Amino acid sequence: MAFEPSPQLLEYTEKVIPRYPQKRSAIMMILHALQREVGYISLEAQEWIAAQLDLAPIKVREVVTFYPFYREHPIGKRHIRVCRTLSCALNGGYQVCEKFKSEFITGLNEISPDGRVTVEFAECLASCGTGPVALIDDDLHENLTEESVKALCDQIKAETPAAPVPAAPAHA
Ligand code: FES
Repeated sequence: MAFEPSPQLLEYTEKVIPRYPQKRSAIMMILHALQREVGYISLEAQEWIAAQLDLAPIKVREVVTFYPFYREHPIGKRHIRVCRTLSCALNGGYQVCEKFKSEFITGLNEISPDGRVTVEFAECLASCGTGPVALIDDDLHENLTEESVKALCDQIKAETPAAPVPAAPAHA
């Protein structure tokens, strides 16, 4: 099914493209706006962006798949990204991830059954001295322990209403 942009996204796209000497240079601005609005960037949305920028769809896909902060699939309401790079891994990053998963009874890269979260691994989040760390949405949480992860999960459960969603395909 073809992607239908919202009037706001359409207006933004028409405004941002002329700011650049070449249309293609607006690609990341449009990808950010689209993901902020829709939550992820589907293949249909990538085709729509490609058409706006006179690009082949594969050129848009190359950008989306290169940067880990772009998503091609829906996620839960809260996005938990646990660092698995060396310093954090040595300090318990994998156990932290397991704790998040078990608190929400979910697998990696999936939407939890209550719709509240998606738990993923991330590469170095530039806070190696305070590992293990995790990003919850845009907030960095440092020096995580089993207890502090439990407290964060309790907070998410209290703040975020459950809304089970149909299972989304797992992604790498
Ligand atoms: S290794 Fe985890 S923040 Fe750098």
